[in-house]
Amino acid sequence: MWGGRFADGPSAVMREINASIPFDKALWREDIRASRAHVAMLGAQGIVSSEDAATIRDGLDQIASEYERDGVPEEWDLEDIHMTVEARLTELIGPVAGRLHTARSRNDQVATDFRMWVRAANDRAIAAIRALRSALVERAGEHADTIMPGFTHLQTAQPVTLGHHLMAYHEMFARDEARFAAAQERLDECPLGSAALAGTGYPIDREATAQALGFARPTRNSLDAVSDRDFALDYLTAASQCAIHLSRLAEELIIWASQPFGFASLPDSLSTGSSIMPQKRNPDAAELVRGHAGRIIGSMTALSVTMKGLPLAYSKDMQDDKPPLFEAAGLLDLSLAAMAGMIAETTFNAERMRAAAQAGHATATDLADWLVREADVPFREAHHIVGEAVKLADSKACSLDDLPLEDLQAIDKRIDARVFDALSIDASVASRASYGGTAPDQVKQRVAEAKAMLRDLESTEE
Ligand code: ARG
Repeated sequence: MWGGRFADGPSAVMREINASIPFDKALWREDIRASRAHVAMLGAQGIVSSEDAATIRDGLDQIASEYERDGVPEEWDLEDIHMTVEARLTELIGPVAGRLHTARSRNDQVATDFRMWVRAANDRAIAAIRALRSALVERAGEHADTIMPGFTHLQTAQPVTLGHHLMAYHEMFARDEARFAAAQERLDECPLGSAALAGTGYPIDREATAQALGFARPTRNSLDAVSDRDFALDYLTAASQCAIHLSRLAEELIIWASQPFGFASLPDSLSTGSSIMPQKRNPDAAELVRGHAGRIIGSMTALSVTMKGLPLAYSKDMQDDKPPLFEAAGLLDLSLAAMAGMIAETTFNAERMRAAAQAGHATATDLADWLVREADVPFREAHHIVGEAVKLADSKACSLDDLPLEDLQAIDKRIDARVFDALSIDASVASRASYGGTAPDQVKQRVAEAKAMLRDLESTEE
């Protein structure tokens, strides 16, 4: 390919360090599609004859069916997918194959191929997040009234509903989806025709190739187009944020499924047994979702560090853009699918959740609020009074609303029988009816809105 200038061939180490074919063969569909668009444009512009363009197109089609059937051959001497395709094209159609590379370089070629691959990955992420959101909203609707302890510091704080808890994740994943959609919008420009770095002297039609490849428009600066990989980093940062959310949710499922909690039972289909302890049902899928987040964030770091010192325009370092992106995309696709399955099929143990909310003095704040509201006690003082009540309940191993009225009145005589209305966990969640609060009515409204939004998104995309 560039042998003309060289007296010696590359060493074995050079061949090995240079070869990207082991991983960039994943780009073969994009590469052939971009070459097809390029040669059609060259033909239409009279840069190559229409017969040659047709011969090249037919050759490319044949290569596509070979790769579809047999996979892509992996020959280090051919370096990458671009040279692999061109070498096969030369075998098939002879020297006319050499006309395909007119007015282009591997630099704009790889930038174009990779963008198309990342574009498909963005689309997959958006669809998979959508499915996870639907599952969350569905389960949240079922459990809008299911009471569980809400935690801060993983200590029982105030009762909330499971529906509210699940909808918290729905909010996070909705933002993640928006991040992928924004990445997709920025990515929507076609580098093809930027050539090596400076553009080309041939009368090419960049609008035509951009359109043929499904991009909104061509990129506006050839140096930028061949040398930035921010579209890949946009994917990886969105993927990292999404993986962080997935990991937190996975962590909660793992805790909830642990026997001392017993809040949830993960589906058999996404759990594994133990070869030694017959009673075990391990949350492996959730643990791997949690674990994969580390690798996804690592991929984002890897590509960021690869890019940060590079002068314009292309440098070979950039060949290392693909393994982290491919790895992260594979892991994210799997993680989203596993999480959607877990959310859809986990059995929640409403009694256990309720009992835990009952046990943790989760309504202590409600008692304090009652003293403020009904007895005009300053909040700080009310806080102190309730602390005494909690201490007493603990010493009697009962919950706050099991304490007899006389006991409460011994702590503060302003307390009267009406307090019991505020102390139940049902009254507590029902009272938190501020917008976005945990009251079942609020949760039901949020669920209905989210369902309508998801339906709308689905119908506008049809
Ligand atoms: N395999 C290369 C990559 O992925 C293609 C571009 C090579 N360009 C060059 N001038 N060596 O980055």
